[in-house]
Amino acid sequence: MPSGLYRCIYYSKNRIDGGRTRIASEIESILAAARRNNPPLLVTGALVFNRGLFAQVLEGPCPSVEKVFEKILRDPRHGDVQVLGFEAARERMFSNWSMAFLGQSREDQNLFGHIGPQTGFSTERIEGDRLLDIVRNLAFEEEARAA
Ligand SMILES: Cc1cc2nc3c(=O)[nH]c(=O)nc-3n(C[C@H](O)[C@H](O)[C@H](O)COP(=O)(O)O)c2cc1C
Repeated sequence: MPSGLYRCIYYSKNRIDGGRTRIASEIESILAAARRNNPPLLVTGALVFNRGLFAQVLEGPCPSVEKVFEKILRDPRHGDVQVLGFEAARERMFSNWSMAFLGQSREDQNLFGHIGPQTGFSTERIEGDRLLDIVRNLAFEEEARAA
C-alpha cells in the first residue's frame, strides 16, 4: 500500500440560519476556502449537502487531512459532526477535485432518504462504507452529466 494516504469521512448537521440563498452563499464560501486551501495540502474530496445534512470525504496525506479537518470541526456553520471513518486508503476516489460539490443539481431530492429508513442515517447508524458509496455514486453521476 502506498504510504501516507488517508481518508476521512463524516457527516454533520447544518447550522446555517436562513433560507436557500443564505445557505447557497455560505456553501459557496466553504467551497472557495476548499479550493484555496486544499490543493497546496494535496487534499481532495467531495462535499454533499442535502436536507440539512453535510457529508464530506477528505483524502490526502494524514497530517494534511488532520489539519483541514481540525479547522472544519471548529466551523460554526455545522455541528454534531459524526466521524464515520478516518483510515489509511489505497488510492484517491476524488483525485480530480480539490472539493467536488455533489447533489447541487438535485436540490429538491432527498438524497439520503432512500437509505434513511434502513440505516437510520439521521439517527446516526449509517456506516462509513455506505456513505462513501453514496458520495462516490453521486460523483459518477456528476461526471457522466458533465461528459
Ligand atoms: C461542511 C464544511 C466543509 C468544509 N470543507 C472545507 C475544506 O475542505 N477545506 C477548507 O479549507 N475549508 C473547509 N471548510 C471551511 C473551514 O471550516 C474554514 O472556514 C476555512 O478553511 C477557513 O479558511 P481560511 O483559513 O483560509 O480562512 C468547510 C466548512 C464546512 C462547514
